[in-house]
Amino acid sequence: MKKKYTYSKQKIYKSDILKVTETLKHHNISKGPIISAFEKKLIKITQSKYAIAVNSGTSALITALKSLNLKKKSYVAVPNITFVASASSVLLSGYKVKLIDVDKDSGLFKINSFKKIINKYKISCLINVHLNGNIDNLKKIYSICKKNNIKIIEDACHAFGTSYKIRDKTYKVGDNSFCDISTLSFHPAKLITTGEGGAILTNDKKIKDKVNLLINHGYKYQKIKKGSYHLNYYKIEKPGYNFRISDLNCALGLSQLNRFKDKISHRRKIAKFYDKLFKKTDLISVLKIKDNIKSAYHLYPIFINDFKSINKYQLMENLKKKNIITQIHYLPLNRQPLFKSRKFPDSDVYFEKVLSIPLHDEINFKDAKLIANTILNEIEKIKKI
Ligand SMILES: Cc1ncc(COP(=O)(O)O)c(C=O)c1O
Repeated sequence: MKKKYTYSKQKIYKSDILKVTETLKHHNISKGPIISAFEKKLIKITQSKYAIAVNSGTSALITALKSLNLKKKSYVAVPNITFVASASSVLLSGYKVKLIDVDKDSGLFKINSFKKIINKYKISCLINVHLNGNIDNLKKIYSICKKNNIKIIEDACHAFGTSYKIRDKTYKVGDNSFCDISTLSFHPAKLITTGEGGAILTNDKKIKDKVNLLINHGYKYQKIKKGSYHLNYYKIEKPGYNFRISDLNCALGLSQLNRFKDKISHRRKIAKFYDKLFKKTDLISVLKIKDNIKSAYHLYPIFINDFKSINKYQLMENLKKKNIITQIHYLPLNRQPLFKSRKFPDSDVYFEKVLSIPLHDEINFKDAKLIANTILNEIEKIKKI
């Protein structure tokens, strides 16, 4: 059968299967020791002070928002180009979403657009999304937010493994140097997977303690007594969720983390190769990433220069016929019925020209060349019609 190239794909190794099956034989397959082993490894990799693994990136966002003690019905600012969970988590936590327009080339939110809404809407929290694994201006954003008493959650679901330098000091996404909390997703489309899963990273003990309550029904412990006998029982002061992840999921994650560096290095090599191939054409532009940033390339987006005359859906369909499955990340949130709001012109431009093409563990240089050439041929064909 001909190889099918999807934009993203998990790779499961024999060692992953062994680790999960070995864990199945443990006494505890939930609330067991593999969860904390996974969390410890996340701490080591990200340099965050605390890591709490949960059952999805969405639960991580909801928990992060709930842990910040924002005032009821506060406004939370969210970039207009992101996965829906970055914004729906705000509504599910009882807050209001204020969308921010994004830069038409990077898809990252525009600082000036953010500044304009801070006072008008008394923004309490910003969810900064590291779209495609790319980041920008984290220090500047931090300084604006601190001045205005705005909490920052970095939705780092795309950027696990991204690092950056400021004045010769290296920072890692997830170390929380310029935010209160970072969140990760371990969905199969991400760099490493736990099947479904996510994590909350923070350096703040109070947040960590609150998160632990929120993800586990609000359980605190108490002794209940009868005569001289007592029983260890739970005490509930505030409601919580069951956002716990199981040891089985964490066993897969722990094993996947053993290849963390190799996975990133592979993506970086293929991304550089794509960059080189697309540099030769004026049909397509690639994502410009600043020199001080080392992206983990969760996605590889290309930008169709002549997006006004090239029908992108036709291109996607033609590529699909050639077994190349692409995706658009994302339809601007303001175009979703749930968040319907005024126009965001730069988000529209970004959306019209962007296309994520295959990049994952199983894409090799030969595949990348074939994919790039097929895309260019198909664009040329559409242009001629
Ligand atoms: C930017 C972003 N935020 C949040 C999420 C939600 O993560 P999950 O699918 O694990 O709930 C995702 C995952 O797709 C994402 O890409």
